[in-house]
Amino acid sequence: MFRLTDFTYDGKTVFLRADLNSPVENGRITSDARFRAVLPTIQHLLDDGAKLVIATHQSRPYKGDYITTEEHAQILSKLLGQEVEYVEDIFGKYARERISSLKPGEAIILENLRFSAEEVFYKPIEECERTFFVRKLAPLIDYVVNDAFAAAHRSQPSLVGFARLKPMIMGKLMEAEVDALSKAYESDERPRVYVLGGAKVDDSLRVAENVLRKRKADLILTGGLVGQIFTLAKGFDLGDANIEFLHRKGLLGLVDWAEKILDEFYPYVRTPVDFAIDYKGERLEVDLLSEDKRLFDQHPILDIGSRTVEKYREILMDAKIIVANGPMGVFEIEEFAVGTVGVFRAIGESPAFSVVGGGHSIASIYRYNITGISHISTGGGAMLSFFAGEELPVLKALKISYEKFKDRVKE
Ligand code: 3PG
Repeated sequence: MFRLTDFTYDGKTVFLRADLNSPVENGRITSDARFRAVLPTIQHLLDDGAKLVIATHQSRPYKGDYITTEEHAQILSKLLGQEVEYVEDIFGKYARERISSLKPGEAIILENLRFSAEEVFYKPIEECERTFFVRKLAPLIDYVVNDAFAAAHRSQPSLVGFARLKPMIMGKLMEAEVDALSKAYESDERPRVYVLGGAKVDDSLRVAENVLRKRKADLILTGGLVGQIFTLAKGFDLGDANIEFLHRKGLLGLVDWAEKILDEFYPYVRTPVDFAIDYKGERLEVDLLSEDKRLFDQHPILDIGSRTVEKYREILMDAKIIVANGPMGVFEIEEFAVGTVGVFRAIGESPAFSVVGGGHSIASIYRYNITGISHISTGGGAMLSFFAGEELPVLKALKISYEKFKDRVKE
């Protein structure tokens, strides 16, 4: 795959596909983690004299965090110390004129790409190539730089559509992500411990199945809703309130699949021994084997308990490789961040080579000043797809582009 230093960009128009999709509360962006992660690529391109067209998606239609990229432009401008102009258009006349009039060292950001219907579907490269988005913008662009690792599991026009038309190059973030994740996945150093939490249960089950079957993992620690599904699969009761919740989320059907994984790999999948519930507005820890577990009938589980954190911590301190994705509980509420922060902190303190991701949940790492993690991935679903052993469409497109344009390096 092409690396950023394979080309020079002076006076060239570069389309930079970033993933600045960020958590939003009351219409405002609450974390600049993904902005900071892409800054080295932007800085490199601007220093080299590129005419820079930045693009990102932000959520998807009808969701609460589906907003314009106006605030994205403001955050980027502030972090860069240079104006990144918000262009309220994607591939219409106004956007094309603005791109054509860019001067070397100038940057703009296009409107939220998913305001265009074409960007909401998943299609193969050939079809993405035929979209109006690609056909209208390709003639104006010299190079495409793809730094959107967090969206690498999506096959959408801005992510893969230019690959056979223009040299598509990995940005610095993409390169760092691919290097770190590959190192963790390919390592033979043991023990290799995977921590699977959060709400993306089916993706996590795919990861568990893949890394256990291919002997890439020695132990899996579970938390969040993933931990609850495995706990049910082990035959424990989590009470009416929690089962009803998992049912509403459409997750109960996954218990059978978790059971199948346990049939094959039971000793290698650990589940929480205690959980924290919301008891009349307060955190209350309940042991899975105690009489108090009847409280699960009425009170929602919002975190793993401290005994589980301690057990997981011991295992993590002895690990050589750690891969963790997703939070252990509802970390947005301080009392229920205990599990997530405890586990992430243990990962940071462990001497292991560690990769932690989980999309928006990595915000908790910054909020609680957790240090010592070898690589903090910007990817949530993309990271899970990678460890599930699936081919990521963006990585495939980068390879196709390299094969097509490799003669043009430093032309
Ligand atoms: C993410 O946050 O996982 C990426 O930005 C991808 O977003 P999507 O799931 O809406 O495609």
